[in-house]
Amino acid sequence: MPKVVTLPGDGIGPEVTAAAVAVLREVAPDLTFEEHLLGGAAIEATGEPFPQATRDALKTADAVLLGTVGGAQNSPWNQLPRHLRPESGLLALRKALGVYANLRPVRVQPGLEHLSPLKPELSRGVDILIVRELLGGIYFDQDRKIDGDTAYNTMRYTTPEVERIARIAFWAAEQRKGRVTSVDKANVLEVSELWRRDVTALRDREYPRLHLNHEYVDSVAMLIVSDPARYDVIVTENLFGDILSDLAAVIPGSLGLMPSASLGDGPGLFEPIHGSAPDIAGQGVANPAAAIMSAAMLLRHGLDQPHAAAKIDGAVSQALKTAPTRDIGGTAGTQEFTAAVLQALGRADVG
Ligand code: NAD
Ligand code: IPM
Ligand code: MN
Repeated sequence: MPKVVTLPGDGIGPEVTAAAVAVLREVAPDLTFEEHLLGGAAIEATGEPFPQATRDALKTADAVLLGTVGGAQNSPWNQLPRHLRPESGLLALRKALGVYANLRPVRVQPGLEHLSPLKPELSRGVDILIVRELLGGIYFDQDRKIDGDTAYNTMRYTTPEVERIARIAFWAAEQRKGRVTSVDKANVLEVSELWRRDVTALRDREYPRLHLNHEYVDSVAMLIVSDPARYDVIVTENLFGDILSDLAAVIPGSLGLMPSASLGDGPGLFEPIHGSAPDIAGQGVANPAAAIMSAAMLLRHGLDQPHAAAKIDGAVSQALKTAPTRDIGGTAGTQEFTAAVLQALGRADVG
């Protein structure tokens, strides 16, 4: 029986994770679940954002399902030393799992173009996969400091780090349209110069039939929302990928529609890309679609159950039509939306 460790976290995290678990129980009754603490919830209980009991649980996990962590701008958690804050717990979790490849699909399902603020002719058929490097770059480099009126962080990449993430992007492109756009800032940054050189060399050596081009991150920020159809797979470093994926959420229509899978050599980590949404937490109105679609990615990429994953994706598309939540112009609450997903799954079983 595969074991899923769940880490609901903070804010809307517990609300959307409960929805995802309810859906997983329905389509994959063989799973077992074990809930643990991460983020602010863990700080309150243990004083640490990534406690030992959570670390230990990962050793026997087949996959990890995460909600969200973090507090509001004025949360006391943000006053703690940086390594004791909720977000540091999440970064340490990613590191502990070794999940260097973060897949963030951006899709507009047929019939859901109206959820996008873009013109339907722009949003129709959008299907982009953002492959974000997740364990390197400016997020993790130890050459960092704040000292009086000076502070710095360091963006550093090595060839092996670039090659392993580029390989994931090329692997994904082989199953898609065969086009990879590598996003950097090579007109200014040496680290991007290395990134571009190594991505190109790997393509030439191992994936000669794939189409590769390079674009600057500032230009991509404009093009991804004005001409999203130009992209198939986007591969980029950690910080650029973080920013571009929130921007790309505009295309389907909400952060609540953006799931993710983080993969490495061990169990995968599956989480919505959105945060803890302190402005709506506890109200029962969060859109759980991203968390539920992350659960589908867990089945597809983490447990090799693609059929069950496809059933979930189909049911979410149905529910987005019949029970849209507030963020996408509807009135359904989290539980109502989840009930609509479960109902759509039931219909799929009968049909
Ligand atoms: P956020 O993603 O939490 O919220 C941005 C806006 O989007 C808010 O208006 C929010 O209400 C809305 N939103 C987000 N998810 C939604 C959903 N599922 N349904 C409906 N509306 C949704 O970003 P923020 O406000 O910048 O960050 C809040 C906290 O979350 C911070 O502490 C931040 O560090 C943390 N954070 C955590 C993660 C994570 O756990 N992976 C990701 C991003 C931010
Ligand atoms: C995300 C979040 C995290 C990140 C934060 C909370 C550490 O924004 O998952 O996109 O920057 O990776
Ligand atoms: Mn982010």
